[in-house]
Amino acid sequence: MPLVLYRKYRPQTFSEIVGQEHVVQTLTNAISSGMISHAYLFSGPRGSGKTTIARLLAKSVNCSGRKEGTAEPCNKCSSCLEIMGNRSLDLIEIDAASHRGIDEIRELRDGIKFAPVKSKHKVFIIDESHQLTKEAANALLKTLEEPPSHAIFVLATTEIHKMIPTIISRCQRFDFRKLTVPEIVKKLEMICEKEEVKVEKPALELIALNAGGSIRDGESLLDQTLSFSGEKSKEIKVEDIKDLLGLVEIEVISKFTDFIYQKKAGEAIDFLNEITEKGSDLQQFSKSLINYLRQVLILKIVGLETKNPIITGFTKEDLEKLKTQAAAFKEEDLRKILNLFLEAENKIRYSSIPQLPLELAIIESCQLA
Ligand SMILES: Nc1ncnc2c1ncn2[C@@H]1O[C@H](COP(=O)(O)OP(=O)(O)O)[C@@H](O)[C@H]1O
Ligand SMILES: [Mg+2]
Ligand SMILES: [Zn+2]
Repeated sequence: MPLVLYRKYRPQTFSEIVGQEHVVQTLTNAISSGMISHAYLFSGPRGSGKTTIARLLAKSVNCSGRKEGTAEPCNKCSSCLEIMGNRSLDLIEIDAASHRGIDEIRELRDGIKFAPVKSKHKVFIIDESHQLTKEAANALLKTLEEPPSHAIFVLATTEIHKMIPTIISRCQRFDFRKLTVPEIVKKLEMICEKEEVKVEKPALELIALNAGGSIRDGESLLDQTLSFSGEKSKEIKVEDIKDLLGLVEIEVISKFTDFIYQKKAGEAIDFLNEITEKGSDLQQFSKSLINYLRQVLILKIVGLETKNPIITGFTKEDLEKLKTQAAAFKEEDLRKILNLFLEAENKIRYSSIPQLPLELAIIESCQLA
């Protein structure tokens, strides 16, 4: 049975939010001083905390146990409990991606006239609000022009450029950002501790790296990892994550990179052939290679001793190898080689011989003066 970690570990207080400091700071100040806006716009990538913070806001403004001059909800009063149990009548969540119609908004506009059932405020969270139909968006705009004093709107969107400017201008806007690898690791470590499972740090870093800035995706990957490994007492290693993600072995990429800087085009092409025959996916291979070369380049530029968050997910031996290669390449060549393989990666899909773009990139890389 999946644990559904991202639901289980949705922050229930502002203090549990990782990152997004600017949003948390401004919002908690507003709540504790009672200076709430009627309309907020949360824009930013998926899994970065928009819905979580919108619900926290709803909880705090209606919490009867909240201490004056503070922002945290008590999580014990009936309003808090109802919101946490998804059964509050004064928190209305609309997913514009599935309810695109004007009807819902009209209902919302008519319904909004009625005071909250139990609480001080009626909070409307409209998710993916850029997907509202034109009519629905216009109806919403009308509502935003004269919101009743009890209403608070939180519009969330992953695509701010698709929002109508007149709606944007009626809202107080917060831009959420992607979470960094260390931020995601921090949350995952907390979860591992609570779940009493052992995952070595490089493995968590590899998960975070593959989460693409979304804590939610990181949590889902951890979820898969845990249900995959079964045994709770066994420590989960980088290798397990690699297997799970179907990542191309670093040793493979590293060996290939050796051929490139030794300018052994023939051997590199043979090697590519070999791994293709063994069933490696060329697209996946290119992706891993580019990621690897990027790390070599960054190591070259920031210096071999610095700790850079991008250089993660390596064992000690892998890292030593990476350093040797960073020292061996000329920076200029690395840049050119990266560009060559980036181009090749794009062409693989459209090439009648999928290997050809990579072979050309190999030959050109090995001919650099
Ligand atoms: N900034 C954050 N701090 C802690 N956990 C987060 C954060 N952002 C996302 N999460 C985790 O990811 C899950 C999904 O987040 P959510 O707020 O629904 O993302 P969004 O609405 O931006 O797509 C949450 O339940 C929580 O576990
Ligand atoms: Mg959301
Ligand atoms: Zn409360």
